[in-house]
Amino acid sequence: MSKTGYRIVLLPGDGIGPEVVAQGRRLIETVARTFGDQVTFEEHRIGGAAIEAEGTPLPRTTVEAARGADAVLLGSVGGPEWDHLAGDKRPEAGLLGIRKALGVYANLRPVRAYRPLLRSSTLKPEVLEGVDLLIVRELTGGLYFGDKRREEGPGGVRVVDELVYTTPEIERIVRLAFETARNTGRSVTSVDKANVLESSRHWREVVDRVARDYPEVPYRHMLVDNCAMQLIRDPRQFGVIVTENMFGDILSDEAAMLTGSIGMLPSASLGSGAGLYEPVHGSAPDIAGRGVANPLGTLLSVAMMYQYSLGRPRVAEAIVAAVERALEDGFRTPDLAGEAARVCGTDEMTEAVLERLQIVPE
Ligand code: IPM
Ligand code: MG
Repeated sequence: MSKTGYRIVLLPGDGIGPEVVAQGRRLIETVARTFGDQVTFEEHRIGGAAIEAEGTPLPRTTVEAARGADAVLLGSVGGPEWDHLAGDKRPEAGLLGIRKALGVYANLRPVRAYRPLLRSSTLKPEVLEGVDLLIVRELTGGLYFGDKRREEGPGGVRVVDELVYTTPEIERIVRLAFETARNTGRSVTSVDKANVLESSRHWREVVDRVARDYPEVPYRHMLVDNCAMQLIRDPRQFGVIVTENMFGDILSDEAAMLTGSIGMLPSASLGSGAGLYEPVHGSAPDIAGRGVANPLGTLLSVAMMYQYSLGRPRVAEAIVAAVERALEDGFRTPDLAGEAARVCGTDEMTEAVLERLQIVPE
């Protein structure tokens, strides 16, 4: 069901975060004008920006606002100025904290090889043509959230990062992956390290059990090291990839290279409450403030927001189509440049997408 009044919380964060979130906002405002939607934006701090202003990477006001929103759009967190900080003092703790606070256990990262960008990748176009896969990354468990310890002993330091998963945590993410695969006519590849890890062996058992409820969905298990190789060797073999938090983090950066640039990848993080939408790229401090960041990962994240949180799947499709047309017409931010016709900045790229947006009122 689509609504006509939304509360969107914007969390620009650090580096290029504010620049790309501003473009996401422009897109939401444009769509709202078409439908006559009432949108309220509320902006809050997270990450390094919050450390500087409020002394903590995740202020309480940020969490409360996000919890009460229809959807949250986040830029990125982190930067060299906070590299000396440890653990829960770091900007990244703000990001992990908001994911946990919103209970967004399912991180969807679609990876699509846009035809006009086939030559922007370092891989051969014939390997990439037609790639359209979805990484479903578990987002609130595993190594990221296990106990961490540092013990000073006579023989030196002993460090511990625990990898914990419970059956329900595995089951809900695996079920979501199978549901998505069924709805989109894809196969499931469950990725683990079952030849070494106990958690992976249990993950496999749960996958086998859940799979029985989806007899029409082809599925298989794959070891993570093999998956890393197969993604580059023959990425078209993948439909939905479901995996635990850390493996999903690593494989999604690798898979981003199938699109030509990490700047292309959007994500949706879903749970039972407000959805959290963020481009997969980081804060890119080296290009921050120069107006050259690729806004497409964010605009495509806004598309996912329309699909999963705002009940307007047609708008989501229209945004993806507009991005594709802008690319076809030769618009390229520097990260995609290659042999491009028109190297453009962040604003101009967004403008190109907005001009090509054809929204059919639903
Ligand atoms: C991502 C990022 C984050 C993660 C970092 C910034 C904590 O790499 O969203 O993929 O590891 O989840
Ligand atoms: Mg990452």
